[in-house]
Amino acid sequence: MHTASLPDSADGTSAHFRDTGDCPPSADRAIDLFFELFSGLPRQGPGSAADTARALALVPPLPPSARILDVGCGTGAQTIDLARATPAAIHAVELHEPFVRDLAAKVRRLSLDGRIFPSVGDMRHLAFPPAHFDLIWCEGAIYNMGFDAGLEAWRPYLREDGHIAVTEACWFTAEPPHECREFWDAEYPAIRSIDANRAAVRWCGYELVGDFRLPASAWWDDYYLPICRNLESFRKRHPGDEAAATVAAQTEREIEMFRRYSDAYGYVFFVMRVTTLS
Ligand SMILES: C[S@@+](CC[C@H](N)C(=O)[O-])C[C@H]1O[C@@H](n2cnc3c(N)ncnc32)[C@H](O)[C@@H]1O
Repeated sequence: MHTASLPDSADGTSAHFRDTGDCPPSADRAIDLFFELFSGLPRQGPGSAADTARALALVPPLPPSARILDVGCGTGAQTIDLARATPAAIHAVELHEPFVRDLAAKVRRLSLDGRIFPSVGDMRHLAFPPAHFDLIWCEGAIYNMGFDAGLEAWRPYLREDGHIAVTEACWFTAEPPHECREFWDAEYPAIRSIDANRAAVRWCGYELVGDFRLPASAWWDDYYLPICRNLESFRKRHPGDEAAATVAAQTEREIEMFRRYSDAYGYVFFVMRVTTLS
């Protein structure tokens, strides 16, 4: 669901770049359909265990007393990777309750109780004390608030010298193809160049530790290819259903954009250290 993936409207806009927090009632059906189509995926957005590990390697080693906040954790693929790679306690916050239940079941199955604490929550209204976390993590979800707004809103929850690691969609070229630009203007007009996001990192009160592009495989392997497999059964379950056909078509369009224009845009992992405490 991002990339241009979760809906907050039934108005014909597509899925991944949808904020599920402020949806009008008329959007409920489209949202339910999107969640149905996106159910059972290894991840709800682009990413991979290798990219999570690469970003984590940019952060100083964490002690067992450390706390990580994973914002917009989805069903927690990266949460579990973080738990395996660090000794920290991880608070995983997600708006969509079924995803939280899914993660909680995995946590029990993997005996990670006491290490991962999933909860339903809104990234806009986090209920934690100030200076509570050593590391804030957010893969494929900060777009729900916007890159700058998320970085600023979450900074008070970081301890001095705390780090934050997020992925954000970026232009890789100054002149994206017209069709691709049009798609993003509709889905996520806030998309910027990598350099523009680097500048935003500074003015939001952080120092950039490092950044890197996610490879195309991070979009396909655990995200788009499983969605493509879901699409067939989704269509069979909803014959003659116009809303379901629209959801399927929007999702296919997003995937087609990436198939054609992955040279022009993609996700970038930004790893930062806080410099200005609120
Ligand atoms: C693209 S998915 C990424 C999920 C996961 N981090 C991953 O990479 O697989 C974005 C997630 O943000 C969640 N989300 C959307 N708005 C939110 C909000 N206001 N607060 C918390 N989570 C939110 C969605 O439900 C979704 O699970």
